[in-house]
Amino acid sequence: MEKNIALIYGDCASPEIVTQAVRVLDAVAAKYGHTFTYTRAYMGGEAIDQFGDPLPQAELDKCLAADSVLLGAVGGPKWEGVPGDKRPEKGLLRLRAGMGLYANSRPAKIWPQLADASPLKKEIVDRGIDFIVVRELIGGVYFGEHKTFHQDGELKAVDVMPYSEHEIERIGRIGFETAMKRRKKLTCVDKANVLDTSRLWRRVLEKLAPEYPEVQFSEMFVDNAAMQICKDPSQFDVIVTENMFGDILSDEASEITGSIGMVPSSSLGAGPRGLYEPIHGSAPDIAGQDKVNPIACILSAAMMLRYSFDMPAEADAIEAAVSGVLDAGLRTADIMQESCTLVGCAAMGDAILARL
Ligand code: IPM
Ligand code: MG
Repeated sequence: MEKNIALIYGDCASPEIVTQAVRVLDAVAAKYGHTFTYTRAYMGGEAIDQFGDPLPQAELDKCLAADSVLLGAVGGPKWEGVPGDKRPEKGLLRLRAGMGLYANSRPAKIWPQLADASPLKKEIVDRGIDFIVVRELIGGVYFGEHKTFHQDGELKAVDVMPYSEHEIERIGRIGFETAMKRRKKLTCVDKANVLDTSRLWRRVLEKLAPEYPEVQFSEMFVDNAAMQICKDPSQFDVIVTENMFGDILSDEASEITGSIGMVPSSSLGAGPRGLYEPIHGSAPDIAGQDKVNPIACILSAAMMLRYSFDMPAEADAIEAAVSGVLDAGLRTADIMQESCTLVGCAAMGDAILARL
């Protein structure tokens, strides 16, 4: 197959991981007889430096013209002072919205080789951690009105969290369908004891539930869910939730698996074109030192092959190669364990390539 991939190298340590992911993609293409071509697109700090805008229309157009987009991470101290709508993160939000990517899936799965790295007690980890957070990505408070103004002699700020039925229904369906392909349990996480938007989420999801009679559907308040994720993560299969709750819970979910440096993500909309990115940030503290873990980005490339290009064997091969290097005891600094071998970003890429 021929596929064109838009590459966003990103900021700080991010280009180092994207470089390794591209090497892996090239190796897969050679082995399985595919042709992957790449179009470089600029978003985030890099785009601010070049164009004074975190996502110029021409860069979004490159992403829309590609078969999928692979991204590292954007942002860093250099751009911290810039105004809200010119921040690197704004480029990411505009990219997600511009591509219509409403469904973000973030798997929280423990790698058996890294089970000791989980901050949870062994007896909890041993019950199993394997769930997915399906996060609504282009609605809610991230995209509602934001404003700061003077009122009664002081500053006041307002962020609006809007959701309409169709936005909830389409992500709800992704939740149920994801559950159907897994252990058939779906939990809607919300704050329905306080928020109208959450009460609407429940109404819409409860209406969908009879269409998926095999799925065991339940509802949980987000504060309780945050607690249950540490107390007994084995109870979860698929969590479906609104944008900000999903942002927060997916960081918590990744941390209990041992390292945020291992967690990839997919963002999809109506068609097969997606955006694939690690869930971690741009790691400014270790930029340029060949220390960053490339695995989340490499696994994001694997997700792209699986979900956007329908290449499950190729995706399996990448995941098996990653598992192989962990078996061999190779670790980047973030996942380093006793009696393992510390390697840098490029050497981790080499080791994964060698196993492909
Ligand atoms: C994420 C990040 C982004 C988000 C930031 C960088 C805007 O935290 O992808 O989880 O909040 O969505
Ligand atoms: Mg986040």
